Amino acid sequence: MLHLVSSVAILVYAACFSFFRVGELIPTTTQYPSQCISFLIGTVAAGWFLGRASRQIFYIATILGIIYLLDFYVPKPLPVADESHSGKTVVITGANSGVGFETARQLAVTYGARLVLGCRSKPKCDAAEKTINEEVALSKKDGKATALFIDLDSFESVNSFVKQLQGMDIDVLFNNAGYVPVANLPVNKYGLDPSFTSMHLSHFLLTEELIKTHPSLRVVTTSSIGQQFCAMSFHVPNPGCINASYLKNNITTPTNDLAYMHAKMANLMHAIEIPVHRPQATSVAVDLGFVSTGNHKSNGFGMDAACLIRGSPNDSCNTISTNEELLQGDFKDERLWQEGGIVIDTLGSTKEAFSYPWWDDSMNLGRSRMLSLSRELWELSDRLIHKYAREEMAEE
Ligand SMILES: NC(=O)c1ccc[n+]([C@@H]2O[C@H](COP(=O)([O-])OP(=O)(O)OC[C@H]3O[C@@H](n4cnc5c(N)ncnc54)[C@H](OP(=O)(O)O)[C@@H]3O)[C@@H](O)[C@H]2O)c1
Repeated sequence: MLHLVSSVAILVYAACFSFFRVGELIPTTTQYPSQCISFLIGTVAAGWFLGRASRQIFYIATILGIIYLLDFYVPKPLPVADESHSGKTVVITGANSGVGFETARQLAVTYGARLVLGCRSKPKCDAAEKTINEEVALSKKDGKATALFIDLDSFESVNSFVKQLQGMDIDVLFNNAGYVPVANLPVNKYGLDPSFTSMHLSHFLLTEELIKTHPSLRVVTTSSIGQQFCAMSFHVPNPGCINASYLKNNITTPTNDLAYMHAKMANLMHAIEIPVHRPQATSVAVDLGFVSTGNHKSNGFGMDAACLIRGSPNDSCNTISTNEELLQGDFKDERLWQEGGIVIDTLGSTKEAFSYPWWDDSMNLGRSRMLSLSRELWELSDRLIHKYAREEMAEE
């Protein structure tokens, strides 16, 4: 019985590893051999043990565990730096930890970019700035990190952040900050769901304000694999996560169990709409899969079984910092940006939004319907920003 359970566990691990992390393996086989070995052993072991469970399963499981831990905790060299980001200025929100911090670190230390670290905690922001600048000094690159306060729960704070950026040449805005809210957080001073305000509306405001002075801004948004679940049947009470009923009734209510999904779906919809409304700007939503960060610890996922399939920030953010197409330049397919922003998925491939089969127009939640809801969300966000943020600015 124990053997059977162990066999199934290894099979699940191998399947999950293949699904979530194999994309990292393809371009990085030579740089990260331990991942490849781990993947190989996982798959082979699963196949073998399903047929003939035995004591060796424990040895293999142990080896897998050791390889995974080595892979996770031993820092790996980044790919050879091209100088493409040198001299570029990238603004990142939520830059003191997790995805934001690691991306900032890689861009400044390895690729010589100038970073504005936007964070809501001054001590954490100063610590991040110090760490990155010390590493930059050792690397002898031209990168630099500058800490700036921004609390995305407050439009006033977003406006003052934008004022402090005046006069800077900004190439990329990385809308990244986010958290997994608990249910029933009360509405904020604007009478809005606080998680929707900080994860979506404030990023909407920030993007709009920066595009005014930087029309050809590249906007990158941390999206999530989670929004794929919005097409699944267990969301039937709220199909699509963001739908007409949500837009009408839920933005002005306390958070509920799906608040994180709502916010991440809103992030994706915003990313799609940016070039439609601001034709000189370009926009990419990036889905990194599961990354081991504070995001998981905050909702108690820190120690769950998913720890074996999560990527380290170091590996995962590589997808962003080494992807020339993501942070600059044209995309190879030379698509018309006016059709909307695009998505880079866990496997690193470029996609149209809602292009997975489960968003097919023949399904209940078709792609066209989601695109039309994205348009509605844009209009609503624009109205809310005018009502609250611009009022605040006018009162100053
Ligand atoms: N980790 C994953 O597997 C995963 C998967 C899909 C998407 N994502 C997305 O990745 C993004 C980054 O998350 P992470 O995984 O790197 O988690 P993280 O380590 O917890 O980082 C989140 C960052 O956002 C900041 N933040 C939260 N609320 C803020 C606010 N109101 N104003 C300003 N900053 C705020 C946090 O600041 P404090 O340190 O002060 O709290 C922190 O710096 C999020 O948008 C998340 O949804 C993560």
